[in-house]
Amino acid sequence: MPQAQHPIVGLAFILFLIWLIFPDGEYQSGSLALSDLAAERLSRFHDALDVLNTSHWGDFTPAPPPSEHDDATPSYLNLSGFRAEDNLAWEDLGRFRERSLEFSRHAIPPVAGQDLWDIGQGEAVWMNASGTVHGEWIRREGSVPRGYDSYNLTHNATGMDWIGDKSDWARNITGKFGRMMLRIDGNKTVSEYEELVEDSTPVSGGLIRSVKGTTTIEDTDGSGHNWEMRLWGVHWPHQGVILMTTTSEKFEGIFGLPHLTPSEDFFQSSQRLLNQSLARTIARKEENIYVDQTMPWTSDLENPMYTTNPSPHCEYIMYAQVHPPGQQILNIDMDDISRDTMESIIGAIESELQSPQGAPIPKVPKLQMSVVIYSPDCAFFLESKGPPDFSPSEAHHLMGMKSEVHVYQIKTWILVYALVVFAQVNLLKNQIKESCTPSTMGRVSFWTTAIMVMVDGMTFTAAATWVSSAAATFLPTLALLFSAFLSMCIGGSFLAKIWEVQLPEARPRRDRDRASGNSGSTSTSAASSAVLTPTPTGAGPLLPAPVTASRQARPPSPPIIIPSDQDIDAEIADSAAAVPNATTGERTAPAPQSFQAIVGRLILFSLCIIFLAISSTTWYPSLRCLFLNACTLAYLSLWIPQIHRNIIRNCRRALAWPFVLGQSFLRLLPVAYFWVKEDNFLYAQPDRRAFVFFCAWVWFQLLVLAAQDIVGPRFGIPVGWTPEAWDYHPVLREDSLEAGGLPIGLVSDDNSDPDQATTTPTSQDDDDQTKKRSSTRTMDCAICREILEVPVISAGDEDSGVAGVFARRLYMVTPCRHIFHSACLEGWMRFRLQCPICREELPPL
Ligand SMILES: *[C@@H]1O[C@H](CO)[C@@H](O)[C@H](O)[C@H]1NC(C)=O
Ligand SMILES: *[C@@H]1O[C@H](CO)[C@@H](O)[C@H](O)[C@H]1NC(C)=O
Ligand SMILES: *[C@@H]1O[C@H](CO)[C@@H](O)[C@H](O)[C@H]1NC(C)=O
Ligand SMILES: *[C@@H]1O[C@H](CO)[C@@H](O)[C@H](O)[C@H]1NC(C)=O
Ligand SMILES: *[C@@H]1O[C@H](CO)[C@@H](O)[C@H](O)[C@H]1NC(C)=O
Ligand SMILES: *[C@@H]1O[C@H](CO)[C@@H](O)[C@H](O)[C@H]1NC(C)=O
Ligand SMILES: *[C@@H]1O[C@H](CO)[C@@H](O)[C@H](O)[C@H]1NC(C)=O
Ligand SMILES: *[C@@H]1O[C@H](CO)[C@@H](O)[C@H](O)[C@H]1NC(C)=O
Ligand SMILES: [Zn+2]
Ligand SMILES: [Zn+2]
Repeated sequence: MPQAQHPIVGLAFILFLIWLIFPDGEYQSGSLALSDLAAERLSRFHDALDVLNTSHWGDFTPAPPPSEHDDATPSYLNLSGFRAEDNLAWEDLGRFRERSLEFSRHAIPPVAGQDLWDIGQGEAVWMNASGTVHGEWIRREGSVPRGYDSYNLTHNATGMDWIGDKSDWARNITGKFGRMMLRIDGNKTVSEYEELVEDSTPVSGGLIRSVKGTTTIEDTDGSGHNWEMRLWGVHWPHQGVILMTTTSEKFEGIFGLPHLTPSEDFFQSSQRLLNQSLARTIARKEENIYVDQTMPWTSDLENPMYTTNPSPHCEYIMYAQVHPPGQQILNIDMDDISRDTMESIIGAIESELQSPQGAPIPKVPKLQMSVVIYSPDCAFFLESKGPPDFSPSEAHHLMGMKSEVHVYQIKTWILVYALVVFAQVNLLKNQIKESCTPSTMGRVSFWTTAIMVMVDGMTFTAAATWVSSAAATFLPTLALLFSAFLSMCIGGSFLAKIWEVQLPEARPRRDRDRASGNSGSTSTSAASSAVLTPTPTGAGPLLPAPVTASRQARPPSPPIIIPSDQDIDAEIADSAAAVPNATTGERTAPAPQSFQAIVGRLILFSLCIIFLAISSTTWYPSLRCLFLNACTLAYLSLWIPQIHRNIIRNCRRALAWPFVLGQSFLRLLPVAYFWVKEDNFLYAQPDRRAFVFFCAWVWFQLLVLAAQDIVGPRFGIPVGWTPEAWDYHPVLREDSLEAGGLPIGLVSDDNSDPDQATTTPTSQDDDDQTKKRSSTRTMDCAICREILEVPVISAGDEDSGVAGVFARRLYMVTPCRHIFHSACLEGWMRFRLQCPICREELPPL
């Protein structure tokens, strides 16, 4: 009985659900809340801090120098990553120290054979190393091989469920060389200390502060990735030494950092500073354990939260030496300037940078550093490229700007960009004034304007997003925001007007015909429309057909008889069914979109581009470069839609030349900044070849526009490719006279009425006169009442090339066969699309 079982089955199902939803006791105790996890990690940090507090110089000698004692045993620290069983490649620690000292001694060279850097008497360096530097690195192999299979992470890091530890680790640099960027943020407070140790070389200089560094290493040559990471450490300003490490679940680098320093003096000072500052950080984290779930000193910028299943990264130890700026300030040898003088000059520059008071300072030198990076678990070295291994002309380690200079540059360039956008607004305003009538607005391409408005809109969006967090760059960003807003609004309203004017083109053809009616057909004689055939390029013997001719050629739409019951719709449907070939094609044409729909799509498209551009920072560098170049190329193709529209409409020039040239130049400027300038504020790698290509591309489009203006918009385009359009500058030929193809004034002049318009002065001899008669006729222009000279090609002659092209530019012939000066009729047509004589409708220019 299935019905009786029903409640039992339902109950069982509910129980099953409850069993599924409520976790059992064991499972619950096994799953740690994030705050429990944090507490556990923090207690381990306490243990590590104890190790740091109680250890001494020499407690960590994983590979003692063989020369000292034969019985020297390696000693290790009880910190993850520093234990013997962790099996890291500490054999190279000695090499790392040696290489670091080599770089330092090269940056601050010995004077008269005495190594002044070792005793703290070398050239003065920046006290404040905050800033951004970038340059090239080269990779050097470690002396012992290590791979991911050398480590048993499941065994050693307690409670961790590692993901991906059995495949290539992240940050594993495999390329031979590449580029890197390093940003250093120093703590404001510098602590002073007494020199603690007698005769320990090198000395550390008595000043110390904590620093944080963010570095991006591009491994284009190897894995193709960009690795971004954060390192924490200390800075000894007097000696210009910075030592930083990464910290993670398998490597408590910051706690072991004092043991990686070059000498006991460095060890003592850093141990004292870190003992205090790390304890303070741990205490603060413990206070906010339920609020702040980010790990302290994490090297991973993407996942800074506590986690039970981390993924392994290669760990890094970085030694950086700040180079003395003296050489750059004075451009002479430093021998005759004492360290104290130099120190005071540098101090003056730094205090002026920090709080500008208008004190006279020399040009601020660049920040320069040399860097040695050592990875103890992946067993390799990265060194900044530069002397002494490479010649100074080839590479110069890492170069960059101090952060104040950097901020100043950003402010200046944002302001310059705001001015550029403002100049664009001015050009746009003038163009709008020029294209104020429907006839002139109809020539402007919607998409050319749309591209400009879209890019201005993106600038506006970017500025509006940035302005909320733009601490020091607030005012320049506000200026940019304002000018981009102006540009977007004015451009947007222009776009709306263009759309309105050009809307009839998008409507299906039948609607247009019905709206305009058959008004034009009556005034054109059947004879003329029969002889006039389309010759858009002026190559044929006759005048092109008037636009009205095509109307007549089409079968007339069947008359609609309104029945007594007034059912028009049914009647129309019937007549449509009766003539299917006349209506079905037009019926299927999609209805035009509204302006709002188009704008909505444009906005959506720009947002997509913005998101792609933001996410492109994490792509492979080559792919990102391709994407940015493609976007820029699409942007700089902005005249292509205009060229296309000129061809379709047979219009010579839609936009004023100042507008076209000015916009091309102004829109290339920001591109030039990033593609050409070496030390741009984003540290984007310049790509001059691509920029030259962009310039050539824009130049080519301008050339085409100029050619369209001078030679004609359809120059070199096969006749069949373009829709028919009225050619206002036809070739006038004598042999079409009889057929009635010449403009009205000329026909009467030639046949019967010689005194209405004399052709040439009678003073010349007969031969010349007859020749002239066949080539030039004169008559009055109805608009300005001045004489109009028209070249007419005699029967049998060929069109006379470029000269003829220019001559034809001077007159315009309307479809109703009236002839005017070009300037006169163009001026007239700006306001009215009607023939001034017979009020016939004129096709737009
Ligand atoms: C550091 O070690 C000293 C003894 O060397 C001890 O008195 C002090 O409590 C320790 N501090 C911490 C934070 O463990
Ligand atoms: C190392 O430290 C852990 C605590 O982090 C402790 O349990 C262990 O006994 C220590 N090992 C040695 C050899 O001191
Ligand atoms: C790093 O890459 C090298 C070369 O591909 C590989 O042999 C090594 O095992 C990798 N190391 C790690 C820790 O993944
Ligand atoms: C890693 O350690 C775990 C726990 O001791 C052990 O079961 C496993 O076999 C080890 N794996 C390797 C590859 O040594
Ligand atoms: C790592 O493994 C060794 C045994 O090989 C063990 O003595 C040590 O405690 C482990 N370290 C951690 C942090 O679990
Ligand atoms: C900078 O150092 C001082 C003293 O060493 C400390 O009180 C302060 O918290 C540090 N600031 C930061 C941002 O680490
Ligand atoms: C170092 O430069 C940073 C960035 O401008 C500034 O905040 C800090 O106060 C400066 N520190 C010193 C000691 O000059
Ligand atoms: C570390 O700091 C504690 C106080 O927090 C202090 O008692 C101890 O002497 C310090 N140890 C060292 C090595 O400076
Ligand atoms: Zn005129
Ligand atoms: Zn007319």
